[in-house]
Amino acid sequence: MHYLTGSALILGSVFFAIQPVYGSQDSTQKSLTPPPSPEPIVVTQLPLPPVTPNSQPGSCTPNINPHRTGCLLQSSQIQSGNFLPDDNHVLVSMNFSGAPAAPDPASIYNGTQLIIVKTDGDAFPNGDPWKCLTCGVPAKIKVGSTELTPYPQAFLDGTRVLVGNNIVDCGSAQLASPSCTLDKIHIYPIRWNDKLDGSGPGGPIRELRLHPDNVHLGFNSFTFANGQLGQFAYFSRLQFNPSPQSGEPRTPRYELVNVTRLFRASNPAPVSATGNRLFLNESALAVGELRGFTGRGNEVTYVGNPVESCNMDVFAADLSTGKVRRLTSHPEYVDPIDVSPDDRWQVILDTRGTGRQMFLSGMRGIPPMVDMLVAAVVSSTRNNGARRFFLPWLLDRDGDRGDYYGQQINAGGDGSAGSINDPNWNAGADPKWSHDGTRIAYYENMVVSPACGGRNPLPCPDSTEPGGRVTRLMLATLTSREPVRLEPVAVVSDEVPWGEPYVPESAIPELSLPAPGNYILKGKVSGVAHVTMIEDMARSAIETIAVTYHHYSDDGVNFIEGSERVSNTPVSLTINRVNWYSNLMSTGKEVATKKTSPGGFHLEIDTLTNIFDANGTLTTTIDGKVWTQPANRT
Ligand SMILES: *[C@@H]1O[C@H](CO)[C@@H](O)[C@H](O)[C@H]1NC(C)=O
Ligand SMILES: *[C@@H]1O[C@H](CO)[C@@H](O)[C@H](O)[C@H]1NC(C)=O
Ligand SMILES: *[C@@H]1O[C@H](CO)[C@@H](O)[C@H](O)[C@H]1NC(C)=O
Ligand SMILES: *[C@@H]1O[C@H](CO)[C@@H](O)[C@H](O)[C@H]1NC(C)=O
Ligand SMILES: *[C@@H]1O[C@H](CO)[C@@H](O)[C@H](O)[C@H]1NC(C)=O
Repeated sequence: MHYLTGSALILGSVFFAIQPVYGSQDSTQKSLTPPPSPEPIVVTQLPLPPVTPNSQPGSCTPNINPHRTGCLLQSSQIQSGNFLPDDNHVLVSMNFSGAPAAPDPASIYNGTQLIIVKTDGDAFPNGDPWKCLTCGVPAKIKVGSTELTPYPQAFLDGTRVLVGNNIVDCGSAQLASPSCTLDKIHIYPIRWNDKLDGSGPGGPIRELRLHPDNVHLGFNSFTFANGQLGQFAYFSRLQFNPSPQSGEPRTPRYELVNVTRLFRASNPAPVSATGNRLFLNESALAVGELRGFTGRGNEVTYVGNPVESCNMDVFAADLSTGKVRRLTSHPEYVDPIDVSPDDRWQVILDTRGTGRQMFLSGMRGIPPMVDMLVAAVVSSTRNNGARRFFLPWLLDRDGDRGDYYGQQINAGGDGSAGSINDPNWNAGADPKWSHDGTRIAYYENMVVSPACGGRNPLPCPDSTEPGGRVTRLMLATLTSREPVRLEPVAVVSDEVPWGEPYVPESAIPELSLPAPGNYILKGKVSGVAHVTMIEDMARSAIETIAVTYHHYSDDGVNFIEGSERVSNTPVSLTINRVNWYSNLMSTGKEVATKKTSPGGFHLEIDTLTNIFDANGTLTTTIDGKVWTQPANRT
């Protein structure tokens, strides 16, 4: 089975063992370079179209936009993407509102469209610092295409953009040039064939990421098995088919061929049972949700299963060798990541610094036993509905290690309303590097009701942005850096030897937890954990995991004592209810406890909406610092 984690789905039942490296907190990180010093970063804002207060036809008046080139709805949110290859334009997907009715020429500035925004303070010939690429594309030129969001990603040819499940193409014209006119734009759907005879609409694809060779594409696809939502990641080749003979839409389209599922049942599992012993394998390939690729394209990045209990991290796996690297280890939640074009840096969006998840994950060195049941629930607590708590952080290639947890990219503000580090503004996926490695584009949304106001103790702030908009486009400039110039990335192999070639209509593989029973997990350095796995009444799934720790240590740094017992009862496809009893203590580098209130901690949460609703408490205390859970609905 595998677990949904909101924007990220995690393969359950998998985790990594830890090699003993004495005296190091993050013992999975070996033979690494010393961490970098903080560097100067200047964060500025990029312009967006003017704002209309409502979506009434014609509300985007000539007064609001004298150029008659459309408006952004005040309550609407953008999604930014990467830079065009000239590094002077950033892609944005946005929803135009308030257009006047046809035949007014401004009627085309309507609905979700792909725009490019100047990053150099310059303007397009009409005076706007932005240009809509897709506004007014006639229906017959976009047959079979879907909404032009999310994750806009430019190809290096300067003429094409992947956005949502579509490719926007301007033929031979550079997208930013005046020669890229509306009549040259085509929007092509992307189709994943899932039928042996090639029929039907194709399989559901989501979270598409372009490989830096611009030929391959990674994506995720939901599964619905045994009443649980799950997901697998795939690697594929993009191939244009100008005249498809089968399947829908029967229109010129991009097809995903040579598809490999990034999972193989015969690969060593991250957790396995032999007799009454449990074994952990930190090198096992456990791709939860694919998040992209490293800059030179050798590795796939993904949210993997926790190495430490309740601590969600991103990983990279080499596409050809399957070698796994754990990129983050901070206890807080991470999922969006973009690796710099030269592979030396990464930008992540993480809740670190906000304290959001420390009540769950702050205590270090607990092996991820109960996580076989709670990964989805733990991941879901990272947001409060639309409020994401994500901050952009800069990490070097080797990621978190020792006391190094990267540099907050937008730390250089005064925290006041509307400042670059106003805590009421939070980032959304994906932050993106410029091709020359000197800048990072990202976007943020302001907290809005019901994530503030009403019975939420956080009052809703007033926007200080133009037109009162609640979304903004940010540009971080790493001012001490020299631009890097890189050779184009060579086209990588279609084959991922550690994955499984996808065969249409083949059975979805099963992930299995260890069978019900009593197990012993020996610490890598000391001690033992007694683990009991208990089935539900219907004997269809593991419902409860109970663990008792005796001086357990995988790292020689933290020594765990005490016990924990957690049950998970799925309420629906996406809602889980957990009943949680913890009484854990650690000694060693930190003196910590993780404890539930006497009646236990009971949390029900929907992985798609992420509204925290709990009775009882779960509290983590680290060297006297107390981390408590968020109040319900906050
Ligand atoms: C775009 O905005 C309109 C209102 O102008 C709204 O009806 C529509 O649902 C929005 N679409 C998306 C995808 O947000
Ligand atoms: C904008 O698009 C919506 C949805 O397709 C449509 O109902 C509406 O009439 C359009 N508005 C204009 C001004 O064309
Ligand atoms: C990729 O797919 C094409 C057909 O679509 C096939 O000819 C080719 O052999 C495949 N390559 C690999 C490595 O499987
Ligand atoms: C752990 O997994 C890796 C990657 O699949 C594999 O190469 C290795 O042999 C496994 N180790 C054990 C002890 O099974
Ligand atoms: C919390 O307790 C109330 C009152 O007993 C109950 O209605 C609700 O379902 C409980 N919620 C959770 C998440 O246990």
